[in-house]
Amino acid sequence: MNIAVFASGNGTNLQALIDAEAGGGLSPGKIVLVVSDKAGAFALERAKKAGIETRVIEANGMPREEYDKKVMSEIKDKNVDLIVLAGFMRILSSNFVKQYNERILNIHPALLPAFKGTHGIKDAFEAGVEVTGVTVHFVNEELDAGPIILQEEVPIEKGDTLETLEEKIHAVEHRLYPKAVKLFAEGKLKIEGEKVRIRS
Ligand code: GAR
Repeated sequence: MNIAVFASGNGTNLQALIDAEAGGGLSPGKIVLVVSDKAGAFALERAKKAGIETRVIEANGMPREEYDKKVMSEIKDKNVDLIVLAGFMRILSSNFVKQYNERILNIHPALLPAFKGTHGIKDAFEAGVEVTGVTVHFVNEELDAGPIILQEEVPIEKGDTLETLEEKIHAVEHRLYPKAVKLFAEGKLKIEGEKVRIRS
């Protein structure tokens, strides 16, 4: 089960996946490649340290379709079974999503369908909701949408600041994402319409 992780930034979710794999927590999944659209992404350093092959594919203003074709051709040789988006801050074209239909996962730092977009944590904090959380879902052609695999609530407590909330959300992400990836790798996720059934 070959996994490619796509990341644009810090890569703490990638690190959680790397650590999980080291402890057998992604089995039979194996991270074979890390792709980034940003040459300076710290995620690349994390991958290199773990001995994982990396590819930087920068967009440089390239239209989305063209960029995604380039990515597809550059990862072809790795026989990727699953793409895990871990803070990959690009919207994938519908061709790309079709090519990897039901084989792309994303993590979002809010309880989807609430607070979609690039600032899920801040938007929930500023909206003054009492509960936000983390969602892992299959990617479809809409932004931050697609059948939900796992969700976990994170309450926003009285003394919370944006920073403390971020810490709490990330801690949940780092636990939830490896769990979802393992379920996929074990073939336990079945998409039924808009929903995901988890086989025991
Ligand atoms: C994570 O919080 C992830 O949920 C978010 O980007 C962060 C990446 O952090 N993704 C989105 O907001 C997607 N809409 P990381 O690089 O440390 O893993």
